[in-house]
Amino acid sequence: MFDLSGKSVYVAGHRGMVGAALVRRLKGEASRILISDRCTDLREQAAVRGWFAEHRPDVVVVAAAKVGGILANDSYPAEFLYDNLMIEANLVEAAHRYGTEKLLFLGSSCIYPKMAPQPMREEALLTGPLEPTNEWYAIAKIAGIKLCQAYRRQYGRDFISAMPTNLYGPGDNYDLEKSHVLPALIRKAHEAKKAGADSITIWGSGTPLREFLHVDDLADACVFLLKTYSGEEHVNVGSGKEIAIGDLADMVAQVIGFNGMVKRDPTKPDGTPRKLMDSGRLQAMGWRPSIPLEDGIARAYRDFLAGDVRGA
Ligand SMILES: NC(=O)c1ccc[n+]([C@@H]2O[C@H](COP(=O)([O-])OP(=O)(O)OC[C@H]3O[C@@H](n4cnc5c(N)ncnc54)[C@H](OP(=O)(O)O)[C@@H]3O)[C@@H](O)[C@H]2O)c1
Repeated sequence: MFDLSGKSVYVAGHRGMVGAALVRRLKGEASRILISDRCTDLREQAAVRGWFAEHRPDVVVVAAAKVGGILANDSYPAEFLYDNLMIEANLVEAAHRYGTEKLLFLGSSCIYPKMAPQPMREEALLTGPLEPTNEWYAIAKIAGIKLCQAYRRQYGRDFISAMPTNLYGPGDNYDLEKSHVLPALIRKAHEAKKAGADSITIWGSGTPLREFLHVDDLADACVFLLKTYSGEEHVNVGSGKEIAIGDLADMVAQVIGFNGMVKRDPTKPDGTPRKLMDSGRLQAMGWRPSIPLEDGIARAYRDFLAGDVRGA
């Protein structure tokens, strides 16, 4: 067990969706939360070292990253690779240099090969080619996992990695050009309800299966891992439950009170038929999510109405 009480915990990327959830969750621990302002550009080694020299955090969570969808990855491959490599390398090296006791690095499910057997187990890493649309981001995230492993092996550092599934919740991006499927559905159903429209349309057949986790559940899993896990292998963090996109759209419409039809547009691409993480390892350690999808969507809709969102 790693005791967080009395420890200073640096949440890198605290303004982001994941970082903000970590700050909320850590307030329930007897720890001191440290943050850095955006003037500390985490791509800059000297800035990161300067910050660590001054604050010397006991614990670091790497929730800062250059994040985006397919279009952004495709348009800015250099930024997705360079920014993410620099952010994680600077943070991991500074954590080692200034004696951080524990570090948690966050990646995502895109690290797994495009054709990885479903549900995706941790062992699937580096067993095949990546999805080409986000390989820049994925390569950087794989390097982050390897950095943690390398510092553990060479220097005995307690640096660990977690790979979350699709997240949603407060601070999510509702810009229809950039958003993920769940916030996009919430916004579409909300606007259709407001406009008195009789239908909304989702892309594709509605049959692809996807997994979602509320970001507050992820933050809880991160704290659980900080306290209980110390190992080289990265750990998947998912809900373990999958839902067809069509059923998800129906659920969103119901939660929001949109009574029109949810139509499918089969001329649009479906994407991969199934994407689910195997979170058996984390479950075997004793962690379970606590926010069922329908409740989580209702909470996300309240956040949306309250304006706790980006891009709306
Ligand atoms: N959201 C998801 O569905 C999801 C799913 C799986 C994994 N994850 C992982 O969780 C982590 C965080 O994701 P997120 O959704 O919270 O992303 P986010 O909302 O975009 O937050 C990322 C944060 O990093 C900060 N950042 C980026 N570049 C920086 C730099 N050079 N210096 C200082 N800060 C910088 C951003 O600040 P600015 O906004 O000021 O640039 C932002 O606060 C990522 O590693 C991501 O892969 C997310």
